[in-house]
Amino acid sequence: MSMFFQDFAAGPNATVAAVAGIPGKPRRFLEFGSVFVTDDPITEGIELLSPQIARGQGIYVTSSLDGSNTHVLISIAFTNQKYNGSTLEIQGRSVQQANVREVSIVSGTGKFRFARGYATFETVFLDLSIARSVLRCNITVLH
Ligand SMILES: *[C@@H]1O[C@H](CO)[C@@H](O)[C@H](O)[C@H]1NC(C)=O
Ligand SMILES: *[C@@H]1O[C@H](CO)[C@@H](O)[C@H](O)[C@H]1NC(C)=O
Ligand SMILES: *[C@@H]1O[C@H](CO)[C@@H](O)[C@H](O)[C@H]1NC(C)=O
Repeated sequence: MSMFFQDFAAGPNATVAAVAGIPGKPRRFLEFGSVFVTDDPITEGIELLSPQIARGQGIYVTSSLDGSNTHVLISIAFTNQKYNGSTLEIQGRSVQQANVREVSIVSGTGKFRFARGYATFETVFLDLSIARSVLRCNITVLH
């Protein structure tokens, strides 16, 4: 399965927000201890207006002292007809600067009960001026 996370890091319709950090330190992706909450629309194709099939909801925490890695805890909550109401649970270490970030899929619900597998994330669109990015997520699961 291939799908696209539509990510807005700023503005009135931001889908990711910094919610905590180490006191006195900035809350940002490359700062140890920064905690983010996210609720990204997930679409079938790369375009924002492509059909929405799920939402990517969860948290991630910059979890290496040098800021290079983040720990990802995200549910892919499906809303499309085929998997409506089912979820896949992602947990793992993501090397923020890597072109391909691989994380594990540790479980699921509904049609994905007992799922196991892995997901790769690649940034396929990035426009820092509007804080918008699109991530391609490829999923391989046994369930
Ligand atoms: C934010 O979302 C609202 C409601 O969907 C929309 O009307 C508005 O244009 C959006 N704003 C931006 C900056 O995208
Ligand atoms: C998914 O399930 C919800 C809640 O049961 C329902 O409201 C919605 O219409 C369903 N969507 C699709 C695409 O079947
Ligand atoms: C993800 O899937 C797309 C489409 O099948 C493929 O082009 C791309 O190389 C895959 N990415 C990875 C990291 O496997």
